[in-house]
This record gives sequence, structure tokens and C-alpha cells, in this order.
Amino acid sequence: MTASAVPALPPESDQQFDVGSTEDSLDRMRGIYAQLGDAYRIYAPGRGSHTWVFNHPDDVRRILITNHRNYAKGVGFDRIKILLGNGIIVSEGEFWKRQRRLLQPTFHRRILTQLGGIITRANAACLARWDEKAARGEPVNVTDDMSTMTIEIILRMIFGDDVDAMAAESGENPFAVLTEESERDLKFAYRFRKLTTLIGKYVARRRAAGGQPAGEDPDYLSMMLLARDKESGDGMSDKELIDEITTLIVAGHETTASMLNWTWYLLGGNPEAQARLLAEIDAKADEPIPSLESMEELHYGNLVLQEALRLYPPVWVISRRTIEPDVLGGYTVPANTDVFISPFFVHRHPDFWQDAERFLPERFESGDQDRKRLTYLPFSAGAHHCIGETLAIYEGLIHLSKVARRYRLRRIDNEPVEFEALINLRTRKPIFMRLEPRA
Ligand code: HEM
Repeated sequence: MTASAVPALPPESDQQFDVGSTEDSLDRMRGIYAQLGDAYRIYAPGRGSHTWVFNHPDDVRRILITNHRNYAKGVGFDRIKILLGNGIIVSEGEFWKRQRRLLQPTFHRRILTQLGGIITRANAACLARWDEKAARGEPVNVTDDMSTMTIEIILRMIFGDDVDAMAAESGENPFAVLTEESERDLKFAYRFRKLTTLIGKYVARRRAAGGQPAGEDPDYLSMMLLARDKESGDGMSDKELIDEITTLIVAGHETTASMLNWTWYLLGGNPEAQARLLAEIDAKADEPIPSLESMEELHYGNLVLQEALRLYPPVWVISRRTIEPDVLGGYTVPANTDVFISPFFVHRHPDFWQDAERFLPERFESGDQDRKRLTYLPFSAGAHHCIGETLAIYEGLIHLSKVARRYRLRRIDNEPVEFEALINLRTRKPIFMRLEPRA
């Protein structure tokens, strides 16, 4: 092709919307993808500029890995900055590097396995509620219950026993805003602000008490308070701690809840896969508190979670902004352009996935190579890849192994599921499922 034949701009969608700001973003993008393919532009009226979308793994690799220094965090992060200040998910450059260095050791496997008790107790509480429902023959609201359970896990992991003191002090569940308000609007921002004030109070108290954990086990507030940067010897200020704590809550709660919600939706509609999972779990001794190593031995359980994350990646779009111009998909992307990658579309790309719309956990049997080719990236890739990946999978496996010993879950209808695709990919309506007690 001669230089003059190279199209200067990728095709433009005739629809105009701000990706991730309207619930039907994903439905619209499915239509656009079918029409325009791997590279296209959408005009975003809210910003008065174009969003460039790239769905080919080669472009994903360039954005996230080989040329990642040319990309800043993008518009998706502008939206959450108001809530999370300069926490690790929003921050950039030297400050981000330092925060990642400080936080990374707290996600070491040795620490994660100590969270087994918290995860197991939260599952026991969920199962106690499910036992009551099962006794009355009522279906369970899996969506709400996964949200309640995962918020409990993340809060206990961060604050230890201070969670109870915080609830007692505010006379209500101060964290309910995170599970009750799905709109990220002004009302949410107001309630969230009250929450950060409360967190600030507990950060200050802990510091005054020398950073000792609240309870017998180490908790993240203590670990983060006592963490020191190897290079400078400095720790985090109260403001930095508040930003990192709210970041961990927001990054770790809804994503994990969504993974489990989608996993049950898929298992509920695929009795054979569920039967294979139950058989694997039955063949293993029921440990009171399963260790990380032991859960990782659940081979099929791992495949099920990977496949659920392929079909319904909770972080369904990843946004970046070019610093200098770059070439993606054969097009020259100008500097300061919003660039979106969507794991949802990459994970269903017909050139890389056979039978892409089907739930087939066995497809991951052959190993991890797809991840290296960046055809699979539920936890992103490169420098900013998810710090909580191993924790999320550990939570998922403990949950599956505890529930599966007691119940089989069945969908109560065959209605097609509708998406709510805002910052995270959720089901628009809660999913109700029937519990079948196992003999
Ligand atoms: C199934 C569950 C989860 C999914 C699908 C998920 C997905 C992701 C993705 C895609 C990113 C990268 C975003 C980007 O590149 O712009 C990310 C980053 C991050 N995640 Fe997760 N996540 C999950 C669970 C967790 C948990 C449990 C935690 C912590 C408790 C966590 C903490 C973080 C943090 C702190 C970052 C920012 C990392 C950085 O920029 O250095 N995530 N996650």
C-alpha cells in the first residue's frame, strides 16, 4: 500500500456516547464492533472529543507493555479521581511507583494465606443466610449476597476488628453506600465523603496507637501504616493512607463480587460444568480454613473462574491517554487522545478464540500462553496489572469450595441477562438462584 492509501483515521461510529458513562455502553459497542471491527472511533459528547477503541491483542500489547511509557491513565480514571484522590489506581509516575513499592509486599502469598480465616468466616455467614432461605424453599439473591460477602472480606482485611467499632460509632453500616448505591452520582459522592472522614479518624487513631493491628491478625491498615519506602525510608501520610484504603475497597470489592455473580450465573446454566466442579471439590478434604496452596490445587475450579472472567471481565474497559502520537491498528493516534481497550471484546475475538460465546472452562486446560499473547487480560497486564489478582482468585476458590459442599445452584429462569456496563460489568438486575441441598 502506498503512503497516500493508508487511511489517516479509523472508521467512526455513527453513534455518539461516552463509553462507560451509560449503562448500555457495552450493548452499543457490540453493534459497533460487528460493523467496524478492531479499530474505530466514537465521538464522546460529554468531553467533546473522540474515543479511539482498539480490540486487537497486538495493539493491546503495545499500549500496555511495549510502549506503555507513552500512555497516561485515561478518562475512566478522571471519573474516579474525585472519589479516590491520588490512590494507586489513579496515580502515575514516581508517586505511583513508590505507592506500588509500599503496597506490593502486603499482597505477598504469605500474607494472603493469613486472610483465609476472614474469607472463610464471611462465607460461613453467607451460607448461614442461605441455609435459612433453603429451609424456606426461597431462592437467593446471588448478586446482593456476593456483594455483601466481598465487602465484609475487604473491610475485615483492612481494618480488622475496627470494622465493628466503626459501625457502632456511626450507628449504621457506614460502608453500606458501597453496596446500596449503584449510581456514581452526587448523592453517592456525598455519602462517600462521609465515609472517608470516618476512615481518616481511624487512621489517625491507629497512628496514635503505634500502628498495632486491631485484633490478633495483621491487618492492612497496620501494614500500610508501618510500611517504609526502601529508598527514602518514608512512610505514608494520613491523606495517602485514606486514598489507598478507599482505593483498595473500591478496586477489590465490586470486581470480586461481580466475578462470583457471573460465575454462578454461568455454572447455574451449565449443570455439567457444575457437576465436574462438585466432583473435584468432593474429592478433597474440607479444611476448616483452606490455605492458598490448597485452593490452587482445585484445577477445574481455577478453570471455571478463568472462563467466567473471560466471558464477563468485571473491568470490561481499560482507558489510557496517549502522551506522544503512536501508531495503533495501522492508524496514527495523535497525542492526548483517549484510547480504550476492552477485555470483553479481546476475550471474544474470533481470530483467537474458538466458540468464543460458549462457556467452556476446559479451553484453559492447555495453560497460560494466551495471556502472554494478550488475548486474555481480565487483570490487565504490564506495570499496572492488578495487585489483587491472587487474592481475588483465592476468595473465589474458597467460596466455590465451601458452597459446593452444601448446595447445587440452579437458575430460576432462562431470561437472557442484561448488562450494566459502567465502570464495572454487572448484571442490570440481580440474579436469583435456587439452592438444591446436596444429600
Ligand atoms: C476479580 C477481581 C478483580 C479484577 C477483575 C480486577 C481487575 C483489575 C484490572 C483490570 C486492573 C488494571 C486497570 C488498568 O490497567 O488500568 C486492576 C488494578 C488494580 N486492582 Fe484489581 N481486580 C480485581 C480484584 C482486586 C482486588 C481483590 C484488589 C485488592 C484488594 C485489587 C486491587 C487493585 C489495585 C490496587 C489496582 C491498581 C494497580 C496499579 O495501578 O498499580 N483488585 N484490577
